Amino acid sequence: MSRSGSYKQFYERSINQPDTFWTEQAARIEWVKPFTQVCDFSNPPFAKWFVGGETNLCYNAIDRHLVSRADQNALIWISSEVEQQRIFTYRQLFDEVNRFAAILKSLGVGKGDRVLIYMPMIPEAVFAMLATVRIGAIHSVVFGGFAAASLATRIDDARPKVMITADAGSRMGKVIPLKPLTDESIQLSQYPPKHVVIVNRGLDKAIHYIPGRDMDYVALCHRHHGEVVPCEWVESSHPSYILYTSGTTGKPKGVQRDTGGYAVALAASMPHIFATKPGETFFCTSDIGWVVGHSYIIYAPLINGSTTIMYDGLPIRPDAGIWWKIVEDYKVSVMFSSPTAVRVLKKQDAAYLSRYNTSSLRYLFLAGEPLDQPTSDWIEKGLGVKVIDNYWQTETGWPILSAEPGIEETRRKLGSPSFASYGYTMKLKQEETGLGVAPNEKGVLCIVPPLPPGCMSTIWGDDRRFVKTYFGSFKDEQVYTTFDSAICDADGYYFIMGRTDDVINVAGHRLGTREIEEAIQAHPNIAEVAVVGVADTLKGQVPIAFAVVKDVSKTATPELAAQHEKAVMATVDHELGAIGRPARVYFVTALPKTRSGKLLRRAIQAICEGRDPGDLTTIEDASALEQVCNVVAGSVLFDLAPDTARRVAPTVAL
Ligand code: PRX
Repeated sequence: MSRSGSYKQFYERSINQPDTFWTEQAARIEWVKPFTQVCDFSNPPFAKWFVGGETNLCYNAIDRHLVSRADQNALIWISSEVEQQRIFTYRQLFDEVNRFAAILKSLGVGKGDRVLIYMPMIPEAVFAMLATVRIGAIHSVVFGGFAAASLATRIDDARPKVMITADAGSRMGKVIPLKPLTDESIQLSQYPPKHVVIVNRGLDKAIHYIPGRDMDYVALCHRHHGEVVPCEWVESSHPSYILYTSGTTGKPKGVQRDTGGYAVALAASMPHIFATKPGETFFCTSDIGWVVGHSYIIYAPLINGSTTIMYDGLPIRPDAGIWWKIVEDYKVSVMFSSPTAVRVLKKQDAAYLSRYNTSSLRYLFLAGEPLDQPTSDWIEKGLGVKVIDNYWQTETGWPILSAEPGIEETRRKLGSPSFASYGYTMKLKQEETGLGVAPNEKGVLCIVPPLPPGCMSTIWGDDRRFVKTYFGSFKDEQVYTTFDSAICDADGYYFIMGRTDDVINVAGHRLGTREIEEAIQAHPNIAEVAVVGVADTLKGQVPIAFAVVKDVSKTATPELAAQHEKAVMATVDHELGAIGRPARVYFVTALPKTRSGKLLRRAIQAICEGRDPGDLTTIEDASALEQVCNVVAGSVLFDLAPDTARRVAPTVAL
């Protein structure tokens, strides 16, 4: 970053004059009632942004554009799975969302009620989300890849009045039924929803409706055709959604987002970070079940008056040119994807990158996991676009660290998501002592509160857990911990070194090792298990499990062990979903622990990655670690990618 650069000035204003800065940014959205205070931080670490202001997320995403862009495309949905495409102008999106809002109201959903959305990547999922916030209700989207038991946990935490699902999704042309999982999850839950709205796509012919509870979306649409539902104006802090994410414990955390702060943060991020103008087309390849999908498939592009592309399918189906064909067909200006997706494409013929006219594309933003240099170089050269690595979390809703090409084209350093975004005061602290670190020295990446607009307000229903989890790491200072370690160089560029907790990142999907362990423990023959994330050249990390069985006769021969491994994997598929399935399950007779009984995960992970396990003076039984070494040495199971998992800045030695 140039010292005198315009970004530096912009950033410093956001930190030194936050009230003026955020008042200016707040003018990017419409308020039905102006706010009286920019930030109320009288009860730290809770921050309330734009106090007293009243607005509506759906109004800012749709209604206010009707004056000038009613006929502009708002949402372009393309599915390579079912070979369909549907396009909605802002006017048509308005109609769809209003009808869905009328449906929700008719089912008794009102302000503050929760609506759980468990859907594939179809336009109705977008209508459902926008309709929910339109009426002041709170959505909780659960990724369609999660299994019934995970879904049940989320149902019981959010206690939705209504659930919205579909008969099925599709992956690689294979129908993935969702309705049976919905039914099973409701059976498992203590607080079942009153109604389930089903978008029947005709994919699963065996779909079964439960009378009185289940409602067919098309039938409801007929009943509410043409209805318009006025927006429910809500105070800025009113929750817009809950999004569950993994942490250290097995119980997912419901990240609660406000309304006004989120709308302002996203509205500001489009011109400044994503350099996208109203009317331009933005293509985010994520899934609506993740934070990137919430913010950058739906809310930010629409609030910005852009056209958003929602893509249902794999990047390599029907072939590895599909994304670039979309770019050509719809003149996409800016894309947002993940390093894993690019690594998948990198395995295909590079000629696909030049087969289509991608000259409209200016930037490719990549986030969610470490971006390795070969991947970044390959796509940047192949497409001739600027790749921008940006770092953030479900908790923050928008980039914490990123270059801001909308303000200034700054130098990029490979391996670094650049510097702090405006509004974020970053600090690196030594993990053990909490002391500050010198340039190029590793520390835990922290944000000095108040968290800027758009970041989580609390954990749904659990303020204490919010304070303890995120702000309780250091005695000397109440700072928000990202649980990532990082270094910062003398120019203010950060380099992310990996999580400090038990969270792993599989293909850009965040999973808690504890969540996977709990799923494995649902298998009746598992006594104890440890799961670690191991470097993988394609997915960034993969989970590997080490399990102690109750009845060893079931794993006595290699054949039996292989069968047992499959059974354990199937248990994870059933309990958590296939995204949490370990790449391998090894059977051992003891797990390496400290004398106080703490699992030595970092040592296990080091061994799996062929690194030195480090200080082992506290180990209870060294033979347990030897067993780990032996079973791992006995098989070639994963693609080691030490430089992917533990990258260091070019100027820094490990
Ligand atoms: O460990 C960091 C990693 O992903 C975590 C957050 O994941 P999630 O909550 O799913 O949100 C993703 C939003 C993009 C972080 O704690 N991570 C995210 N971006 C990067 C990253 N690691 C390295 N480089 C990044 N650019």
